[in-house]
Amino acid sequence: MTVGKQYCSVCGKEKEQVHIKYAEIDAFIECECERNLRLQKEKADKEYAVKTAIELRNKSSHLSVLGCNASFEKAIIDKYNEVAVRGGKFLLNRLLTGFNEEKKNSLVLQGNRGSGKTYIACSVINDFNAQNPISDMRIKQILKERDNFYSKDEFSPVKSPCKFITEMDLYALYYENYNYCKTNGPLDEFKKAEKLLVIDDVGSSNYEKQRVHSMYLNIVDYRYSQGLPMMLTTNLTKKELSDYLGDRVFDRLNACSYFIDLTSPESRRKTDA
Ligand SMILES: Nc1ncnc2c1ncn2[C@@H]1O[C@H](COP(=O)(O)OP(=O)(O)O)[C@@H](O)[C@H]1O
Ligand SMILES: [Mg+2]
Ligand SMILES: [Zn+2]
Repeated sequence: MTVGKQYCSVCGKEKEQVHIKYAEIDAFIECECERNLRLQKEKADKEYAVKTAIELRNKSSHLSVLGCNASFEKAIIDKYNEVAVRGGKFLLNRLLTGFNEEKKNSLVLQGNRGSGKTYIACSVINDFNAQNPISDMRIKQILKERDNFYSKDEFSPVKSPCKFITEMDLYALYYENYNYCKTNGPLDEFKKAEKLLVIDDVGSSNYEKQRVHSMYLNIVDYRYSQGLPMMLTTNLTKKELSDYLGDRVFDRLNACSYFIDLTSPESRRKTDA
């Protein structure tokens, strides 16, 4: 069987032909320069897909734009936040590799406004997302969606096992947008986050005490009983926190959390400002 000639699309050289005996066909051998081009493209595609997947996963974490840029690599560390950064890195590490039967899997960061609590919480999620590998299937899907001219908001989501929510949004979700008798409502995305739930700015508002207590009881009790890690940030002291959350919630939190204070005198704003 005779086959026509083929030329390399890059250098124009005629391609070598081989006869594949068992299949009874003639095939052209890819020229070195075409091969390099193909490998380059595959590498660029993979980089694009991984970067996009991380962006999509950050989105699914509900990090703010500011939060998306937080990272332990970039963090400025001083004597005030040093212990908290170490605590955050410990948690990150355990989220990536697993807990070793430790009783404490959660963190409560206390400190005045501007001391860097939210930054550390976001760093844990961000760095987790950046280091948690993306499956090959997901990579292929992203490239397929790109090649079909989807815009980025139309890409199918990449689920994040770590979630971030402020107390204010959590309260709204719990009491306003959500019928909390239902089990599969939007609240569950946060309440049942597989790896980590960050609740930011606990105690920042003056909601009715009973409602705050029952909301936290519902969420903290669930995560505590399932052994699921949490991270809370707050301006409150331990005593104030116990009053704010209610004894039952605080006892559970106390049993599973390291409390770290990063109050810094250099911050712009003080507690109760
Ligand atoms: N370790 C850090 N390295 C670099 N920037 C930081 C660090 N901690 C906080 N910041 C920045 O300082 C500001 C206040 O930090 P934030 O985490 O919001 O404080 P808090 O949550 O305690 O009120 C933010 O703009 C944040 O990006
Ligand atoms: Mg904050
Ligand atoms: Zn060539």
